[in-house]
Amino acid sequence: MNENELISDRRGKKPIFVRGLGSYLPERILSNADLEKIVATSDEWITTRTGIRERRIAEENQYTSDLAAEAAKKALADAQCGPEDVDAIIVATVTADMAFPSTAAFVQKKIGARNCPCMDLEAGCSGVPYGLELASALLRQGPYRNILAISADKLTTITDWQDRLTCVLFGDGAAAFLVSCEGVGAKWEVLHIYIANDSDGTDILYLPGGGSHMPATEETVKNRMHFLKMNGKEVFKEAIKGMGLALENVCALGNITPDQIRFFAPHQANKRILSAIAEHMNLPPERFLSIVEWSGNTSSASLGIAMDHAVHHGWLRPGDLVAPVSFGAGLTTGACLLRWIG
Ligand SMILES: CC(C)(COP(=O)(O)OP(=O)(O)OC[C@H]1O[C@@H](n2cnc3c(N)ncnc32)[C@H](O)[C@@H]1OP(=O)(O)O)[C@@H](O)C(=O)NCCC(=O)NCCS
Repeated sequence: MNENELISDRRGKKPIFVRGLGSYLPERILSNADLEKIVATSDEWITTRTGIRERRIAEENQYTSDLAAEAAKKALADAQCGPEDVDAIIVATVTADMAFPSTAAFVQKKIGARNCPCMDLEAGCSGVPYGLELASALLRQGPYRNILAISADKLTTITDWQDRLTCVLFGDGAAAFLVSCEGVGAKWEVLHIYIANDSDGTDILYLPGGGSHMPATEETVKNRMHFLKMNGKEVFKEAIKGMGLALENVCALGNITPDQIRFFAPHQANKRILSAIAEHMNLPPERFLSIVEWSGNTSSASLGIAMDHAVHHGWLRPGDLVAPVSFGAGLTTGACLLRWIG
C-alpha cells in the first residue's frame, strides 16, 4: 500500500470534499500605532510578544452575519455554485448577531438561500474543525449535498478596550467552506478530522456576562462582565500543548507523520505560539502558515483565512496535504487533514 492509499483509508466512510473556500476581512485597519492612542502599550511590546502589527475592524453596522455572508458568497463563487445549491448553513461563532435567532439564519437571508436548516455552533476558535466535522457527519447521513460551514467572529465587540493585555490581540473576519459529498470540481478532499474539549480549562478564556449564569444587569455592565477574560500565560501554554496533541492525533488517524504535511494552518493567535509548535514538533517554521502580522487573532475564522491566503498565492500543489489546527475557549482543540486537489 502506498502513502496515499493509507491516508485515504476512511474505513468505508463516504468521501467528503470542499468545493469552495472564501474568506473576508473588513477594510478598516487598526495598527499598533492606533492602539498606542487607546491603551498604555507600544508597537514594540505588541510585535515582540505577539508578532501582530495590525488587525481589521468591522464597521459598527457590520455584524458577524455580514462578515459570514461575504465569506460565504466567495466560497460559493469559488465552487461555481449559487445560493440555491446550499442545503444547510452552519455558523461557528462566539459573537452571534443576537442570542437568537441563529447567526446562520441571518446569513441565509443575506446570501439569498431559502428554507435550508440553519444552526450556530460554539467551539471557541475551533470553528473550522468543528464545523467541518459537523458538516461531514450531516453529509454522510444525507439527504444533504452541499453545506456551508462558516466560521465568523466580530471579536472586537467583546474586546475590552481598557484591557491592554487582550485588546491588542484581536481582529474581525470570516471564512467559509462549501462542504460537499460531490467530488466533481472539488478543490479539497477532507481525509480526517480530530476534535476534542478539555473542560478543565473553562476558567482561562471566557466571557462571564449575558448568559443564564450571569444575566445582564447594570452591575454586570459596570463591572465589564460582557467582555472577554483571559489568563494569557495559561492560554499560551495550553495552546501549544493542545494544538500539538491535535496534530499528533489527526496524523495517527491518517497513518502519516507530521513531516508529510505540506502546510499547517494553525489558529492565528500569536506568532510565538506558532514558532513554539514548530519547534516542539521539530518541523520547519515556514510550513506553518502565518497571517497574524496583518490579521491579528480573528478567532474561529483565522485558520480558514490563512488557508485561503495560501490558495490565492498559489503555494499549493495538487496532492499536497494541509492541516488546519486549532485551539480555543472550552478548551476546544481540533485538527483536520485535507488534500489539495487543485
Ligand atoms: C497575552 C500575551 C501576549 C502576554 O504576554 P506575556 O509575556 O504572558 O505577558 P505578561 O502577562 O507576563 O505581561 C508582561 C508585562 O507586560 C505588561 N503588558 C500586558 N499587556 C501589555 C501591552 N499590551 N502593552 C504593554 N505592556 C503590556 C503586563 O502588565 C506585564 O507588566 P508587569 O510585568 O509590570 O506586570 C501572551 O500571554 C499570550 O500570547 N497568550 C496567549 C493569548 C492568546 O493567544 N489568546 C487567544 C487564544 S484563542
